[in-house]
Amino acid sequence: MRVLITGITGFAGSHLADLCLTKKDVDLYGIIRWRSRTENIEHIWDKLKLLECDLRDATSTRDVIEEIKPDYIFHLAAQSFVPTSWKAPSESLTTNVIGQLNVFEAIRKIDLKCRIQIACSSEEYGWVNSFEIPIKETNPLRPLSPYGVSKVGQDMLGYQYFMSYGMDIVRTRGFNHTGPRRGPVFVCSDFAKQLVEIEEGLRPPVIEVGNLDAKRDFTDVRDIVKAYWLSLEKGKAGAVYNVCSGTSYSIREVLDMLIELCGLDIEVRTDPDRMRPSDVPVLEGDNSVFSNDTGWKPEIPFEDTLKDLLEFWRKCPKRV
Ligand code: GDD
Repeated sequence: MRVLITGITGFAGSHLADLCLTKKDVDLYGIIRWRSRTENIEHIWDKLKLLECDLRDATSTRDVIEEIKPDYIFHLAAQSFVPTSWKAPSESLTTNVIGQLNVFEAIRKIDLKCRIQIACSSEEYGWVNSFEIPIKETNPLRPLSPYGVSKVGQDMLGYQYFMSYGMDIVRTRGFNHTGPRRGPVFVCSDFAKQLVEIEEGLRPPVIEVGNLDAKRDFTDVRDIVKAYWLSLEKGKAGAVYNVCSGTSYSIREVLDMLIELCGLDIEVRTDPDRMRPSDVPVLEGDNSVFSNDTGWKPEIPFEDTLKDLLEFWRKCPKRV
């Protein structure tokens, strides 16, 4: 089976690559952009084939998909950091929506028969009323950031290409995920990295934070990529699935857990630059549709994920 991961050099992409390599009879392909950072996949460099491609370029996208002719495509490549989507909204929309459009059009034009998973997001739900918790797939989408809008665009394109052309597309709405290799701008990783730097005396005992009142539903990335795999192995064409733990923590609780794991006595300081024009207050999902169709359930306790994340930063050579 030929499997293509877009976004293979990223956080979830690299963990999904690790998982694919444990499967029998998988030829694994990834695409990378010129000057992509590749440290997340250096340990499996010789076990996969990488092709150069920029998904924002339709020709480049069509050429590589025609060359690989994948059976499964996991489409994870995206501008994935919410704050960047306010600073560069047009770039975020182009990368996420047009990038995916180019993948779909390439598949359609070469009449490739393949299953495609698209990584949509809980950010699509945006504003959620308290009576709508836990969030079901049928909840209205009220995105609060250009990133959220871009993911609604990807999601709706997935629906439309399934309906119009019968393409075998499965949409996963991933809630927050974290773990080793998480980029340092995302909340758990950002806090873990600061704490490790405090432990090592590389910064004063002060942690910079943003909005601690927001609540998020966290799952370990290694559970999330199992869900992505199952979405194509067992998920229904045209379906949309929440992928989440069903439990939410406030960011303040996450911070307290990390501080406790480190055993540090520190000052917590709010950095106004970390506040967003509008932050989604609560995301807590209902994963029952996905569990019923695929048998998936998250297995790694959140505290273990946070411990592994701290260990990742303790061992990481590139810090501060
Ligand atoms: N990044 C960051 N840094 N976030 C902070 C901080 C901080 O110092 N302090 C508080 N927060 C809050 C944010 O305001 C937000 O409410 C929450 O922590 C989580 O922020 P992120 O880790 O940046 O993730 P996100 O929820 O905005 O988006 C992530 O999850 C989505 C799924 O819900 C990303 O992984 C998206 O790509 C993904 O789609």
